[in-house]
Amino acid sequence: MGLNILVIGSGGREHSLCWKLAQSDLVDAIYCAPGNAGIDQEDKCKSVGFDALNFEDQLKFCRSNNIDFVVIGPDNALASGIVDFYQNNNIKVFGPTKTMAQLEWSKIYAKEFLQKNNIPTAKYLIGHGLDDSLKKTKANNWVNVFKADGLCLGKGVYVAENSATREISLNDLYDNTLNKNYDSKILLEEKLEGDEMSLFLICDGKKALPLTTCRDYKRRYNNDTGPNTGGMGAYCQHELYNNLENTIDEKIIKPINKLMSCSELPYTGILYVGLMLVKNNGSIIPYVLEFNARFGDPETQVMMPLLDCDLAKLLLMAIDGNLSTDLIKWSMAQSVGVVLASNTYPNLSKAQVIEYTPDNTNNFKIFHANSYFNDHKLYTKGGRIFTCVGTGKTYKTARDTAYQNIKSIKIKDTSYRSDIAGHL
Ligand code: AMP
Ligand code: GLY
Repeated sequence: MGLNILVIGSGGREHSLCWKLAQSDLVDAIYCAPGNAGIDQEDKCKSVGFDALNFEDQLKFCRSNNIDFVVIGPDNALASGIVDFYQNNNIKVFGPTKTMAQLEWSKIYAKEFLQKNNIPTAKYLIGHGLDDSLKKTKANNWVNVFKADGLCLGKGVYVAENSATREISLNDLYDNTLNKNYDSKILLEEKLEGDEMSLFLICDGKKALPLTTCRDYKRRYNNDTGPNTGGMGAYCQHELYNNLENTIDEKIIKPINKLMSCSELPYTGILYVGLMLVKNNGSIIPYVLEFNARFGDPETQVMMPLLDCDLAKLLLMAIDGNLSTDLIKWSMAQSVGVVLASNTYPNLSKAQVIEYTPDNTNNFKIFHANSYFNDHKLYTKGGRIFTCVGTGKTYKTARDTAYQNIKSIKIKDTSYRSDIAGHL
C-alpha cells in the first residue's frame, strides 16, 4: 500500500506541492484542506474542504483515511500550533513547531536570533510603542525601515523613500497595519540596498540543507511600483546561487547548522531565508531581511517543475530526521512564473467566472489559487488567481512560454506584470 498525504492550504503553492507529490510512485492519494479546483483536476488529488485552522476535523479525517503524513502550507496554521497539534496526536507532520515558527511570526525574535548568532542582518532598535519609536527615529537618522512584530499578510513592513518621509511611514505602520494599537512593539531598521534573493533550506530537526534560491516580485506593478503583495511572479536562480554558494554557506547555513547539530534549533520543515545581497568593497554580503517558516508562494510554483527527485520521499526523510544531500536533484532547465491577479489585488475583489484557460503542456503549467466549481463552471474568488509557469532551456524560452499562455486566459477584470524575469 502506498502513502496517503494531507496537504494544508488552498493556494498556488499547495497546488504545486500536490502536483509534485502525485508524481511519486510511493504515493497513493493526496488530499488538500481546503484545497482548490485546480488540485481536484490532478491525478490522485482531492480537495477536502476543511479550513486550514480547523484542526479537529482535519484530525478526524486523518484517522479515517489512514493519512501517513501532513504537509503544512500557510503561515497562520504554523503560528497557531498546527504542527504541535499533529505531533501530540502521533501523526507525522512536515513543518516547524509553534516555537520554531516564531522565526517567522515574530520579527523581533528573528532579529535577536540573527544578532546573537552573528548572521549578517541590518542594524536595528526595538521601538516600545509609537512614542518611543518616534523618539528613537528622530535620534537615529539611519532608521528608515519600520516592521510590525507579528504576521501581517505582507503588510507589516514600511520602507521610507527618503529621510523626509520617515515619520509618515512610522505613523502609517501604526495606523494602518497595527490598527492604531499605539503600544505595540516594532522593529526600527537601517535601510539596505541590493538585489533580493529567497533562499530555501530543508531541515530535518538536526540539519539544514539548501534546496535552491528564487527571486520573487513583491510589488503589484511593473518596475517594482505599487503596493506590496504576496508575490506577482518568480523565477529560480540556480546559477546565481551556485556563484554565491560559498559565501551563503559560510555566513548563513553553517551558523544555522551549528545550532541544529547541538539541539538548540530543533527545526523541521522549510526555512525560507529572505536575503538582500549588499555590495561591500567588491564582494557581496548576504544580509538576512526575514525568515519564513514555510514554502514561498509563488516561489514553490517555479521550484516544483524543476525538482528532479521524489518530493514525497524528501519530505518523509525530513520528518524522520534522515535528510541527505543525495536526495535533492534539480533539472538543468529554467522556470519563470507569472501571477494573474484581479485588478483590485492586493485589495479584495468579487468572484469571477474563469471563461478560458490554455491546456497544460510539458513546458507550461497553470497552478490555481482559490478556484472552485459551481454548477459545472469554474470560478475564482479573486486576489491572486493563477501562477502560469513556463519552463525551458533558457530564461527567454521559459518566459516566452509563460507569457504566450497567460495572454490567452479569459477572466474579466484581471491583469499581470509584464516584466517578470524580463532582464534575463
Ligand atoms: P520582509 O517581510 O522583512 O522581507 O520585508 C518585506 C520587503 O521590505 C523586503 O522584501 C524588502 O524589499 C523590504 N525590506 C525589508 N527590510 C529592509 C531593509 N532593512 N532595507 C531595505 N529594504 C527592506
Ligand atoms: N513570496 C513571498 C512569500 O511567500 O512570503
